[in-house]
Amino acid sequence: MSSSKVSMMLLMLSLASSSYLLMATSSAGDFFRDIDVTFGDQRAKIIDGGQLLTLSLDKISGSGFKSKNEYLFGRIDMQIKLVPGNAAGTVTTYYLSSEGLTHDEIDFEFLGNSTGNPYTVHTNVFSQGKGGREQQFHLWFDPTKAFHTYSILWNTHRIIFFVDNIPIRVFDNLESIGVPFPKKQPMRIYSSLWNADDWATQGGLVKTDWAQAPFTASYRNLKANACLAGSSSSSSCVSTTAEDKSWQNQALDAAGRKRLRWVQKKFMVYNYCSDRKRFPQGFPLECKRSRF
Ligand SMILES: *[C@@H]1O[C@H](CO)[C@@H](O)[C@H](O)[C@H]1NC(C)=O
Repeated sequence: MSSSKVSMMLLMLSLASSSYLLMATSSAGDFFRDIDVTFGDQRAKIIDGGQLLTLSLDKISGSGFKSKNEYLFGRIDMQIKLVPGNAAGTVTTYYLSSEGLTHDEIDFEFLGNSTGNPYTVHTNVFSQGKGGREQQFHLWFDPTKAFHTYSILWNTHRIIFFVDNIPIRVFDNLESIGVPFPKKQPMRIYSSLWNADDWATQGGLVKTDWAQAPFTASYRNLKANACLAGSSSSSSCVSTTAEDKSWQNQALDAAGRKRLRWVQKKFMVYNYCSDRKRFPQGFPLECKRSRF
């Protein structure tokens, strides 16, 4: 073989292997590739070759991370195993947020509890800096025993919160009646584990037991089927998994609505839309429109 043929073959081999690598890494979540630690130093750990991430909290600090990418609409799925045992006073957050004073935000927060008492899943939606749209739930399983999937679907029509693919909350785009909807500001994925024993557990009555520290929550399989908001190029939609664009028009079908009603009837513990004391002058506009 001539030397030019050999170098040609080597070139093709290396091209083939690098494109193989590209496919392999983009098919599964890799925390090394996808996130940056935001605080807590070594309390945030990426292990198992990027497949697993743990956050921990001790008396000195909690920890957190954010996605490298910014997204404008998407479906984000994350598997989380929450702090086990006596997790009173701890809060694990998982949310999408843009930056600035009039930011948009879509929140999951998991409020820990004393052993044997249920976690509270707190949800909220901010648009253009205004939140105050809390709904809270208990779960139908123990979220500390195994990983469960928590998802945020955000398209131009609605936001849906899912737990293990069961819808727990829908926030519709009601711009037509004057309710601002997040649709212009790109958001990053954030997560953190921190101490909030001044308010989190049973209204701040139950404090963090530091003898149990460090507290640890685990994450895996972050999937972003989402539109990248690149600063240079125009938005483009990517998937970290097999091509899946169904989220872009996703709504609840009859079965989904039935499951949502089941969750809201059995597991909802707070809904701002039924808190009359808080809104003596009348409920926010979206409360009148959304049945859920
Ligand atoms: C903790 O458990 C109590 C008692 O079951 C419950 O009322 C509360 O909602 C739970 N969650 C938090 C965060 O306090």
